Amino acid sequence: MTSKLAVEFVAFKDAGRRARGKKGSGEGPRTLVVFAGADLAFGPATAELLGEAAETVGRSAQAASFKGKAMSTLEVWAPAGVDADRLIVVGCAPKEAGAPPAGAEMMTLGGFVAGKLGRKGDATVVFDLPAASEHPAEAAAELMLGLRLRSYKFDRYKTKKGDDAEPEGALAVRIAVADPAAAKKAAKAREAIAEGMNIARDLVNEPPNVLHPEEFARRARELEKVGVEVEILDVKAMQKLGMNALLGVGQGSVHESRCVIMRWNGAKKADERPVAFIGKGVTFDTGGISIKPAGGMEDMKGDMAGAACVVGLMHALASRKAKVNVIGAIGLVENMPDGKAQRPGDIVKTLSGQTVEIINTDAEGRLVLADVLWRIQDQYEPQFMINLATLTGAILVALGTEHAGLFSNNDELAERLHVAGKETGEKVWRLPLGPAYDKLLDSKFADMKNVGGRHAGSITAAQFLQRFVNKRPWAHLDIAGTGMASPQNETNQTWGSGWGVRLLDRLVADHYEK
Ligand code: BES
Ligand code: MN
Ligand code: ZN
Repeated sequence: MTSKLAVEFVAFKDAGRRARGKKGSGEGPRTLVVFAGADLAFGPATAELLGEAAETVGRSAQAASFKGKAMSTLEVWAPAGVDADRLIVVGCAPKEAGAPPAGAEMMTLGGFVAGKLGRKGDATVVFDLPAASEHPAEAAAELMLGLRLRSYKFDRYKTKKGDDAEPEGALAVRIAVADPAAAKKAAKAREAIAEGMNIARDLVNEPPNVLHPEEFARRARELEKVGVEVEILDVKAMQKLGMNALLGVGQGSVHESRCVIMRWNGAKKADERPVAFIGKGVTFDTGGISIKPAGGMEDMKGDMAGAACVVGLMHALASRKAKVNVIGAIGLVENMPDGKAQRPGDIVKTLSGQTVEIINTDAEGRLVLADVLWRIQDQYEPQFMINLATLTGAILVALGTEHAGLFSNNDELAERLHVAGKETGEKVWRLPLGPAYDKLLDSKFADMKNVGGRHAGSITAAQFLQRFVNKRPWAHLDIAGTGMASPQNETNQTWGSGWGVRLLDRLVADHYEK
C-alpha cells in the first residue's frame, strides 16, 4: 500500500525560510521538528533557526522537565517567534557520552518522528544532531527510511476511511541537512529498500482468498517493470520436471501451484555466477489432512512471508541497480484438506530423485523448498543459496520474535549474515546442524520422512532442507517468528513486517557487488 508521504531534502539555510514563508496546505498542522542533546543542547543550525525563540523553548522545557533524554519529546503548540503551528523537540542525548549514532538507530529515530507527526500536514525536520554522525548523508537517508517504514498502512479492505483515529490526508516532510545533494543520493538506495519492504508487507497482509498462488505469481510478474526477468512454471511444467514434492502439497487445493523464477542481471560481467534467494510461499497453511486447530489459523495467511521477502528483495536490488546477478525463486502452493489432498503415509519422489514418506502433511514448507532448492542449485550453480521460510512453530519457542533462526553449512556465509543482521537490526541467531539430527529423518519405507519427531523441530526441518542443497554454500532462515504477526515497534506498525529485505540487501551490498 502506498504511504502518502512525500520527502525532500533541503539545506539548513532554507529550512527556516520555507517553514516560515510557506503557508501550510490547510490540511493539518505545520510542524517544525528539531533535535536536542542532554540539557537542551542544540546543534548550530537549530540554534540559528530558533534564534530568540530558543529562550521560550527553554522555558517550556523547564516547565515540562524536558532534559533531552533519548526518545523523549517536548511539544510546543503555536510557539512564539517560530512560524509553525507546532514545535517538536526530540531528545537524542547519546546513551554513552560521545558515541556516534548508528545506522539502525537513525532509522528508529525516523520512525519515532513519523509517529509523532501523524499522517497529515507539513513538517520540516532539522536534522542537526548534537552528536554529529561521521556520515551525515547516510544518517539522513536512514532517517528517511524510518519515516517511510513507519508511514506504511494496509487499509485496502477498510471501507470507512477518515475517522478521527486515522485521518485521511498526506504528509509532506522536508529534511533539512548540510548537504542536500549528498543526502538525496544516499536516500536513493533507501527508497528502493523501503519500496521493497512495503511490497513484501502488502503480500503478507493480503487475505488468502485474494492472494492464492496464481495471484501471487501475477504480482511477482510486475517486477518486469523494474527490469527483472520473470519466469512462471505452472503445474504442467513442474510435472514435466518432476517437482512432485511441491506439487503434492498443492494437490488438495482448487488453486493451482506455481513456481516463479526471477532474475536480475546487474553484474558487470554478464556470466558472473549468481547469488540465489529462495522463499517458501504457502499462501495458506491449513495443515492439510493433518489439520491445524482452529484458534489463530487465520495467521497462516502469512505462511508465504519468505516468498514475499524474496519478491521485495528483488524489487529493491533491481530498483537500485545492484551490481550483481541474482536469482529469486519462490514455490507457491495452498495446503488444503480435500479428497484429492496428500495423505500421511504417501511417498513422493522429489525432483532430486530422493523419496520422502509424508508423516505429517503440516510439515509442508520443507517439501516445497526441497524441489525449488534442488532446481536452483542444478540450473544456476549459484555462489550461495539462502532460503527464507516461516518453517516451524518451534523457532518461536526457541528465539521468540527477536531473532530469525539461522542454519548454514558455511561458516563464512553465516558470519556475514550475522554481521548484516546487527547492522540492519534484522537479527539472526545460528543453531546447530549435525549427523545425529539428520539421522532422525530416516524412514522405514523411503529415503527419508518429512518430520523428525518431537524434539529439535526447527533443526530437523533444517536438516531436511540440507538434503536438497547438494553441498552448495547455503543458509536457511526460519522466519516464523519475525516475518508475520511480529511485534510493533518504531518502524513497524503492521502485521507483515517485510522482514529480511534489509538484511539481505545489506548482505549483497557488503560482499557480492562488484
Ligand atoms: N507454517 C507452519 C509453521 C509456523 C507456525 C509458521 C507458526 C508461523 C507460525 C509450518 O508449516 C508447520 O506447520 N510446521 C509444523 C511442523 C511440524 C508438523 C513438524 C509446526 O511447526 O508445528
Ligand atoms: Mn504447516
Ligand atoms: Zn507452513
